[in-house]
Amino acid sequence: MTAVTRRALVAGAGAGAGLALAPPAFARAATGGGFLWGAATAAHQVEGNNVASDIWLLEQVRPTLFAEPSGDACDSLHRWREDIAIVRALGLNCYRFSVEWARIEPAEGQISQAYLDHYARMIAHCRDSGIRPVVTLHHFTSPRWFSARGGWEQPDAPDRFAAFVDRVARRMGDGIDHAVTFNEPNLGKLGEWSATPMSEAVRRRMRAMLAAAAKASGSDRFSLLNAGDPDAMIAPVIAAHRLARAALKAVRGDLPVGMSLAIPDDQPAGAGSRIEEKRRAVYEPFFAAAREDDFIGVQTYSRSRIGPDGALPPPDGAERTQTGDEYYPQAIGNSIRYAHRATEKPVLVTENGIATADDAQRARFIPAAIASVDAARRDGVPVLGYIHWSLLDNFEWFAGYGPKFGLVAVDRQTFARTVKPSAHVYADIVSKRS
Ligand code: BGC
Repeated sequence: MTAVTRRALVAGAGAGAGLALAPPAFARAATGGGFLWGAATAAHQVEGNNVASDIWLLEQVRPTLFAEPSGDACDSLHRWREDIAIVRALGLNCYRFSVEWARIEPAEGQISQAYLDHYARMIAHCRDSGIRPVVTLHHFTSPRWFSARGGWEQPDAPDRFAAFVDRVARRMGDGIDHAVTFNEPNLGKLGEWSATPMSEAVRRRMRAMLAAAAKASGSDRFSLLNAGDPDAMIAPVIAAHRLARAALKAVRGDLPVGMSLAIPDDQPAGAGSRIEEKRRAVYEPFFAAAREDDFIGVQTYSRSRIGPDGALPPPDGAERTQTGDEYYPQAIGNSIRYAHRATEKPVLVTENGIATADDAQRARFIPAAIASVDAARRDGVPVLGYIHWSLLDNFEWFAGYGPKFGLVAVDRQTFARTVKPSAHVYADIVSKRS
């Protein structure tokens, strides 16, 4: 999301799978336990029909900035067992996914026990399959009612979020391996440092889309993370992060908790680079909170060269990805060095990947990216794991289903999953380390 996009918003499951099962009880997940090798998804991008969420509404209203609606997405709401089976078959030991607040609390104060059970079942199934679940509590979407009452700009927003997190913690906290409170809460600030900032026409359309969503909700406002005034959201989101962390720790004191930040590999370009100004604005407020956490989640896709006038486009002739980013796999190694230096916390690579319709490009990207993580580890950066974005080709926010980030292709009609050669490249690397 230029703010809802960075790169512009920047077998066997079958319907009803597992519904007859009693909700699982958990033995507490072991902490520690070696390097995490994983793949990631987010609920709205893969589940389908997330109709009570704010972004679903934004996809429906006119005007909209979304290229197409999310619709059935990858139907992972029903096919999640198949997804976990693929993670396992690839020899990975970790699956990062998000629990959807809009499903668990579809109307203000109305809690869906069935969806709490659904996510608890996913977590239990991961653990039964030898997969460590890294669970995100907020991955861009909020319930529609929450955004229609003013979103993060309402004074009680952090408490509302913490109440949701408390329910998740009590229902399934014992099964979670690592918890990520917020996914990229700094994306709005990062958007201000884009080499291709939103045009005034797009800004106008964004405002019109939000106004249409407010009207459709019978409200005079509609505000969501990374789509409003980024400065206004920093304090409430950090407050919400702290309360969420406390809610998780109250139930499970030893559960590792952090947030994930969007951190391109920022590089100074030329004399008078504004890189330090960018770092102060985009990361520092979040790093300050992360210094109280157990780890810092880092999400990196490319580099950003910062000159005296701000961000520069990729160099002439540079290889690009499908979303126009520079192909620059070694970025992740530099980002994790920086994030660790700034926070002194262990780093979890919660996302790293590439949008490409040419899977051979991804197959080159993965070993190079992992080599850069290895080099940082050799230099002493404590890295907890590497989680590739994404397990599946999925709904890429404003860009719809065009960009292909997946290790696995998904047929848009049948939802059949096809593991790509690049996934085997990743699996081979992991198998040599296990
Ligand atoms: C987000 C994902 C997104 C990915 C690729 C990150 O900004 O967390 O939801 O799909 O990058 O753009």
